[in-house]
Amino acid sequence: MAAREAAGSAKNLDELRTLMENFAGCTLRATATQLVFADGNPKARVMFVGEAPGRDEDLAGLPFVGRSGKLLDRMMAAIGLDRTQAYIANVVPWRPPGNRTPTPQETAICLPFIRRQIELVDPDILVCLGQPSTQTLLETKEGITKTRGRWFKYHTGRREIRALATYHPAFLLRSPLQKRLAWRDFLALKKALAQ
Ligand code: URA
Repeated sequence: MAAREAAGSAKNLDELRTLMENFAGCTLRATATQLVFADGNPKARVMFVGEAPGRDEDLAGLPFVGRSGKLLDRMMAAIGLDRTQAYIANVVPWRPPGNRTPTPQETAICLPFIRRQIELVDPDILVCLGQPSTQTLLETKEGITKTRGRWFKYHTGRREIRALATYHPAFLLRSPLQKRLAWRDFLALKKALAQ
């Protein structure tokens, strides 16, 4: 509830970042080095959302800068995107200790923040990276093997936009054969961005 009130009161991304930096309602903040708010261009037409920062992101204060981030950069480059043309964030903005999975409670606490962040960025297309991001933001219980490659509708609070679910780059590093399907998703993204 406190997160919802705080997030709702943020009039722009700078205010939202400050509110989140000072938000004491999520215990992950105490163990993390710093808030990992976002990277990229807040005016971009496409926004990527992952699960939670890892060690590299926690130290840098930026999302997707470690191994999976490098893969994400290569996947974006393959369709002509770089971080000046995309905005990148996570559902949970603080690193869970030891890179454990965020608990459902931690995710629920952080949800109003990422929802407001999406609303303020107001992208044309939202890309959910991996199952936790997909299940949380697109409100589905289905697993990522079922949802990847599928287009969903997402209500930003201002308007309805298109949302695409795809595999998380960390999963692709472990299961490189699945890159074939992720490539298909990125081509669909490229096509959608050209419209
Ligand atoms: N995995 C994520 O989900 N987000 C990051 O920022 C890095 C790795």
